[in-house]
Amino acid sequence: MNEHVSLSVPADEQAPRPNSRKVFIKTYGCQMNVYDSGRMSDALAGEGYVTTEEMGEADLILLNTCHIREKAADKVYSALGRLRDMKKARAAEGRELMIGVAGCVAQAEGEEIIRRAPAVDVVIGPQTYHRLPEALRRARGGKPVVDTEYAVEDKFEHLPVTEKAKIRARGVTAFLTVQEGCDKFCTFCVVPYTRGSEVSRPVQQIVDEAWRLVDGGVREITLLGQNVNAWRAEGPKGGEWSLGDLLYRLAEIPGLARLRYTTSHPRDMDDRLIEAHRNLRTLMPYLHLPVQAGSDRILKAMNRRHTGAEYLRLIERIREARPDIAIAGDFIVGFPGETEKDFEDTLRLVEDVNYAQAYSFKYSTRPGTPGADLGDQVSEEVKAERLERLQALLLKQQAEFAKSCVGKVIDLLLEKPGRMPGQIIGRSPWLQSVNVDAKTSQIGDIIQVRISGTGPNSLFADPAESLIGA
Ligand code: SAH
Ligand code: SF4
Ligand code: F3S
Repeated sequence: MNEHVSLSVPADEQAPRPNSRKVFIKTYGCQMNVYDSGRMSDALAGEGYVTTEEMGEADLILLNTCHIREKAADKVYSALGRLRDMKKARAAEGRELMIGVAGCVAQAEGEEIIRRAPAVDVVIGPQTYHRLPEALRRARGGKPVVDTEYAVEDKFEHLPVTEKAKIRARGVTAFLTVQEGCDKFCTFCVVPYTRGSEVSRPVQQIVDEAWRLVDGGVREITLLGQNVNAWRAEGPKGGEWSLGDLLYRLAEIPGLARLRYTTSHPRDMDDRLIEAHRNLRTLMPYLHLPVQAGSDRILKAMNRRHTGAEYLRLIERIREARPDIAIAGDFIVGFPGETEKDFEDTLRLVEDVNYAQAYSFKYSTRPGTPGADLGDQVSEEVKAERLERLQALLLKQQAEFAKSCVGKVIDLLLEKPGRMPGQIIGRSPWLQSVNVDAKTSQIGDIIQVRISGTGPNSLFADPAESLIGA
């Protein structure tokens, strides 16, 4: 999971039905929220809502929120302040505007949201969003509705399947949530409280959804979970399946060219999953495996339940199975009690691993987590200084990784039009954005290209066939 996403759900492909209402969904946080926003849009379609990318024309504005750091939660309240004014202006014109808050802030704050932002009509948690249409109907009665109870029913069984036209509109890559929640209780993290305990979706439900996605033109599926590699379910012939088994099963779907999964916990990287990286060509050579810190003392205080050396050994085993695998990570600097020496252990671990991609953050105190009660908080100044040093090293590694790709011939999955005519943006196996002039190819094709150069956030390539005889 990385929580840099902040985007709106693509507009529906089909023409709006007469009198249909419009919903604008703003997504904050991780990929799980992106997936959930899509499913909320599916649920609302039954109520006659079509999605729009224009906030101004929406009858319902839904914020799908993130609670991971203080700033992420603050963003939601400032957005709600702006929406209150918009709702007032609408009311003056005699037009309805409903406001909904979903996601992890909804789960963590519940009623408090209505107290702080009375313009909100509906607060709905990540476990109950299949009940969103009903909550909206009730809220039309005039009183705000808060539904953050953990549902006893399986929400996936209660959600309508995504319409084929919508799958097409969402593009050739798709997310598929297979696991939700977290039982790890890292002492800095809100996720176990906002998303509840670990639950895995059954094999058949996942396989059916994957088939539908492929039938709708999807070529690459990323399996999602807060701890995706903790996924466990009963196999078709009895016995327990782990994520590795599921990947083998999904790799059999004709037309599904690429598989990925995110985010994983080092403790749940089992042999079967490593073996899948060795044997499955459909499984892309990219692994997001956060470590957070390099010092054993801090790892212990974070309750990560592994040491730096164990993590390094694990990376070694994974690289032995799939030598070209790109490793991505997450880091927190300035966890309570982190000394300069602890921080240097993080730098050393980063040097040892050599990351292709990484996300790093200053520790943010989250009320209700054990970390919030620890003394010895690190000052903002020290956190900022450490973050800068860490990011300089990580950026250097990322740039070196990008440079090492120049000259290589790789498979590129063409995802969307580029900025220039004839240009298409694709994804490399290592999740890099690659710009290519590919006039004769189409979105969804996988073509061979030769990487020709690097830009600030992407790579450039030429179609490999144009180089034949060159
Ligand atoms: N389940 C994943 C990640 C969950 S949250 C895992 O176990 O790694 C995504 C990232 O946000 C985390 O990896 C962590 O680096 C960061 N994060 C979580 N809580 C944070 C906090 N309180 N302060 C700063 N960063 C945090
Ligand atoms: Fe948060 Fe830790 Fe669970 Fe990841 S494993 S979601 S960091 S508690
Ligand atoms: Fe944020 Fe919730 Fe994801 S807190 S990172 S949206 S699980």
